[in-house]
Amino acid sequence: MGERCGETVSARGRSETGRWPTPSRRQLVRAAAATITVGVGVPGGLALSGLLRARDDGDDPDLRRVRWAASSNDQNLIDSRQVLISAFQRAHPEITVKLWLVPFSTDAKRAALTELLRGGEDGPDVYLGDVIWLAEFAAKNLALPLDDQFDRAFWSRFDSTLLDASTYRGRVYAVPYFANRGLLYYRPDLMTRIGRPPPTTWEELAGAARLLRGLPRTPHHVVWQGDAYEGLTCVWTEFAASAGGRITDAALRHSTINTPSCARALGFMCGLVTQGLAPRDLATMREQQTTDLYNNDEVAFMRGWNTADTALGSKPWKYAATPLPTFAGLPKPGYSAIGGWSMFVNPRTRRLDAVRSFVEWMTSPPAQRTLSRYGQMPTNRSVIEQSSLDNDSPVLAVIRGVRPVARPAAMPRYPELSRVVYTNIHRALSTELSPAQALARAHHDLNAILAS
Ligand code: GLC
Repeated sequence: MGERCGETVSARGRSETGRWPTPSRRQLVRAAAATITVGVGVPGGLALSGLLRARDDGDDPDLRRVRWAASSNDQNLIDSRQVLISAFQRAHPEITVKLWLVPFSTDAKRAALTELLRGGEDGPDVYLGDVIWLAEFAAKNLALPLDDQFDRAFWSRFDSTLLDASTYRGRVYAVPYFANRGLLYYRPDLMTRIGRPPPTTWEELAGAARLLRGLPRTPHHVVWQGDAYEGLTCVWTEFAASAGGRITDAALRHSTINTPSCARALGFMCGLVTQGLAPRDLATMREQQTTDLYNNDEVAFMRGWNTADTALGSKPWKYAATPLPTFAGLPKPGYSAIGGWSMFVNPRTRRLDAVRSFVEWMTSPPAQRTLSRYGQMPTNRSVIEQSSLDNDSPVLAVIRGVRPVARPAAMPRYPELSRVVYTNIHRALSTELSPAQALARAHHDLNAILAS
């Protein structure tokens, strides 16, 4: 693992697995360079009415230099950005795309982009934004309404759930690019050793971890993202939903976090830590640390996004993914948080024509199929429906069977809401507060935000 340009990247990758398209090391290093400008290739590509025509801005080449802010979209050096930029430029030789790297973590990226976008037209023209930013960025005029920038045929690429999540006060502010879901990764070899099937409830998982602890030199821990950041809100949303709880009511008016269902979820999570079934330093872990532990054979179970798969080895004894567990007595499977990233456009861009061409191409079937080969879940319906998609990445087949749950992000103050959630859940995980105290505090602070 290394740190480059504020972006955390893993030194391991698909190249070890041989199962995936494997760009050379040199390509990877180039992909991580601060700015990428890729050469042009053959003309071609998809046409969409109203998109860029060379004569529109033939006099000003600067209007054809799109600046795209996007961190790598998984935890791996091998990501799809370089490949897709090159392919786009082959389809649109009149346009150049410069990649602006931004930090990997969603919270740091949100802060960096807010700053860059306040720089007006000097900011990026188009940027990858988290699905949870939409209401906030729309309300703060950091995202351009896009419903009238593309025609009806374009929008029919996406299903209504994705479009609803991209809509704020009746206008669409982002184009869905790829989706994420939480999954359970586990070690098939270890399950075989204890003679147990993959766990479908959290209680079964705890039982398996106890059995593994009894074996010599055998990893037994379960890990998830326990640090105080957005990732923990995702994990909490999953645990709570699987126990029958939610953070707020559907109308986003009241906290519903201080309920018996949520108490069951948090009591269980904290119990795993105090019983030594989750590592002591769980409350410091983000996506990268959990994946590294899994790759280093130090844990038996990991909650991770579908993209974590791209950092896992290809050894079948070591690698398997399944929907997240539920709690005993409740419907299976457990819930998976809806994550994902969309194309947002800077309201002050001068390069709207070129940006539209870029966004149109990046959500077209060839681009979306390329994404799936990198473990990303495409958003283009025609690509999702392709049955051969499951061959691109085994996690994509697993994702089809998960039960999704959204975070309560349809309000501009979602970042504050989320901070209350992850701060208090983190305090409980690090034993600073009891589960009951943490939920009572979160309830109080959430209601203060929701009432204002
Ligand atoms: C992933 C998800 C994103 C989420 C983030 C939390 O990137 O796609 O929606 O907010 O993880 O760490």
